[in-house]
Amino acid sequence: MTARTLAIPGATVQVFPDPGHACAAAAGLIARSIREGVAARGGAVIGLATGNTPLPVYDRLAALHRAGDLSFAEVSTYNLDEYYPIAPTDPRSYRAYMDRHLYGRVDLAANRAHIFDGTVPEAFAAEHAAGFDRWIEAEGGLDLQLLGVGRNGHIGFNEPSDLRVDAALRLPSRPTGLHPTTVEDAAAEFGDATLVPPRALTLGVAPILAARSILVLAFGAKKAEILASALQGPVTAGVPASLLRTVAGRVTWMIDEAAASRLG
Ligand code: GLP
Repeated sequence: MTARTLAIPGATVQVFPDPGHACAAAAGLIARSIREGVAARGGAVIGLATGNTPLPVYDRLAALHRAGDLSFAEVSTYNLDEYYPIAPTDPRSYRAYMDRHLYGRVDLAANRAHIFDGTVPEAFAAEHAAGFDRWIEAEGGLDLQLLGVGRNGHIGFNEPSDLRVDAALRLPSRPTGLHPTTVEDAAAEFGDATLVPPRALTLGVAPILAARSILVLAFGAKKAEILASALQGPVTAGVPASLLRTVAGRVTWMIDEAAASRLG
């Protein structure tokens, strides 16, 4: 499916007629990254995202695996984030989401499917999160990071802040608090805003931006406004997704017409 490419300075933006076509293209890019990593280095390291946006990507990757066209046997994955605290058996945990939508459907080794542990004791949460940066580095870095964008512009759970851009770009993986918009968006899933875990563990801005390739997905009219800010507003920690423009050459945005509707 042909996408139209937008001429936006500092960003490669492909606009697809609908999310299905974008997700098929995204799964194709991920599959290629896995095959190239395995061919060149004997393995691939892929950063994964949760939320509604990437669900068709995981369906497609699982289908490629079922058809015998893609193996995850030599792949390591690192997920962007997890609520804290939360049990891995809680169906709303990102661990459970990943089990349902990808881990349980492909031949990914259990000890290579990394996602933050929402049960780690409070006093060790920072150390646990920081460990991910060392693990990723020890594996040679992320070949590809799949990203969604929150309605408030967050990437992973790197929420909007008033940090200076240089400080925001250095943010490591860590425990963090959830922004009110994020809590609002998660309320339906947890039944009520007061039931949403107030905190999370997230990959930092620094390890996300260090990935050799970054694939950002955003669909629907509810993402239109934040995409206009992220792509055409100032680069600022107030809109974390705008920080992706500092590594523009490595980032591909795949969006649909509805999400592109506010881009000038
Ligand atoms: C969630 C996650 C992000 C995700 C984003 C968008 O809160 N922390 O990793 O990309 O919000 O979610 P959705 O894809 O459901 O719009």
